[in-house]
Parts: sequence; C-alpha cells; structure tokens
Amino acid sequence: MSISITTADVSLAPSTANAMVSARWKDPHWVSLFKPDISSSKVTFDTAQRLPWNLINGRASNRHQIAVDDTTGEVVAYARWILPVHLISAVVWPESQVQECTKEKRAEFQQMFEDVGDRGLRMDLLEFRSTPLEEIDARIKESGPFLELDYLATAPQYQRRGIGAMLLKAGLEVADAHGLKSYVTSSVAGVKLYQKHGFEIVETSTINYSQFGGVEPVTNYFMIRKSQPKT
Ligand SMILES: CC(C)(COP(=O)(O)OP(=O)(O)OC[C@H]1O[C@@H](n2cnc3c(N)ncnc32)[C@H](O)[C@@H]1OP(=O)(O)O)[C@@H](O)C(=O)NCCC(=O)NCCS
Repeated sequence: MSISITTADVSLAPSTANAMVSARWKDPHWVSLFKPDISSSKVTFDTAQRLPWNLINGRASNRHQIAVDDTTGEVVAYARWILPVHLISAVVWPESQVQECTKEKRAEFQQMFEDVGDRGLRMDLLEFRSTPLEEIDARIKESGPFLELDYLATAPQYQRRGIGAMLLKAGLEVADAHGLKSYVTSSVAGVKLYQKHGFEIVETSTINYSQFGGVEPVTNYFMIRKSQPKT
C-alpha cells in the first residue's frame, strides 16, 4: 500500500467527506447526534457540500492535509489544524494551506454550505453535549498558544496502518519547529494514538445524555503536548 500526504483540495471534497464520515460513523455517540432517519450517505453528501467552504473560509489560519491511496486515488484520511493567532501567516506551513479560489467560486461554496442547513442534527442534543465542552475548551485555550488539531479521521478500512500517525507527526513537526504546544479534544478512539505521540490528558468531560436516549455517557479527553525541541 502506498499512501501520499498532500494538501486538501476542494476538488476532492466527496472523497474526503467519505473518509471523514465513515471514520466517525462507527462511533454511536456521534451517530446519535443525527435524527434517526438520517443515513450515513446523507451525512457524507452534506459533508461534501459543506467542505469546500470549510476549506476556503478560514484559509489564513487553518491547515488541511489528506492521505491519498496512490493506487485508487481515494482520500483515506483527513487532518485539520488551526494556527495560533500570532502565527497566522502564509509562510507558516504553506504546503498545507488550501489553494485560494475566485470570488465567484467562494460565493458558490458559501451557498452550497448554507443550503445544507442543519444536516439533520438534533440541535437540542448537540447544544446539551457541546456547551460543557466549549467551556473547558475556552479555559484551556487561555493557557495557549497552541497548534490545535481540530480534526483527524482515517477511513475504517485504512485504520491501524500508521496513517493517522503520519498526519499527526506532520503537524507536530510544525509545532516543534515553532516551539508550540499542541492541543486536541479527543474521543476515546484517539487517546492512545495521541498519548503515544506525547500528548497528556489535562481534563476529561463525561456527559450523561440518557434524557436524549443516550445508552452510555460520552467522554471527551482534552489533551496537550509540550513542544519537543530537536536534540
Ligand atoms: C483515531 C484515528 C484517527 C486513528 O487513525 P489510524 O490511521 O488508525 O491511526 P494509526 O494507524 O496511526 O494508529 C492507530 C493504532 O494502530 C496501530 N498501528 C499502526 N500501524 C499498524 C500496523 N501496521 N499494524 C497494526 N497496528 C498498527 C498504532 O500503533 C495504533 O495503536 P494503538 O491504538 O494501540 O495506539 C482513527 O481511529 C479514527 O479516524 N477514528 C474515528 C475518528 C476519531 O475518533 N478521531 C480522533 C479523535 S477526535
């Protein structure tokens, strides 16, 4: 298997969305955020419609990488990082900054994003689960600056082959080069991988959402990795 790491691109939005959603659809806590009649293919379609705007908007501060299977051309994993404010510059990690597009294309992507609407999300449950996380996130960010890992997903059939680690290491090298701490909020699926690469859990949040039908509480892990200078 030959895998290439490259910059995310709007032209690969459907394939990237497929990797993102198939990775997360294994997590019942994530699936439960959607109304019961919403299928994974609908969520994948909506994610692909939203992704071009997500890639272009915030282009200055966000860096996006994909892993591509060289044999099939399929996107098999995706990572999104957010630079701290003081490092927002085109010269920082330029190879992971998505290509700018025309004003017309921007407007088209924004419209596609807006047309998706609420994605079939259960907004009351989303708010119930995200509000406590946002409070912790805001508190932790006061101890920044950080290079934040905002998203990491590998399609299920490509997991446990080191692809997540490849994407993770690419960002951690940038963090180390700038003497930055790294920060991620993780579901249980990512904790071991992040620990293996130097992250430590600084806080956890466990939310019982049985009043919304949750069978088990969901735990999120707030993890920080100190900058590791080259020796
Ligand atoms: C978390 C996630 C991104 C990991 O991606 P991945 O590509 O499987 O990551 P890796 O292959 O680098 O590492 C995963 C495990 O496979 C192991 N592994 C790596 N190469 C391997 C190989 N060739 N053979 C066997 N195992 C291998 C790693 O050691 C690691 O083991 P561990 O879990 O015991 O630490 C993936 O599980 C995922 O997308 N989950 C859903 C979304 C999610 O939860 N994202 C992150 C948290 S927010």
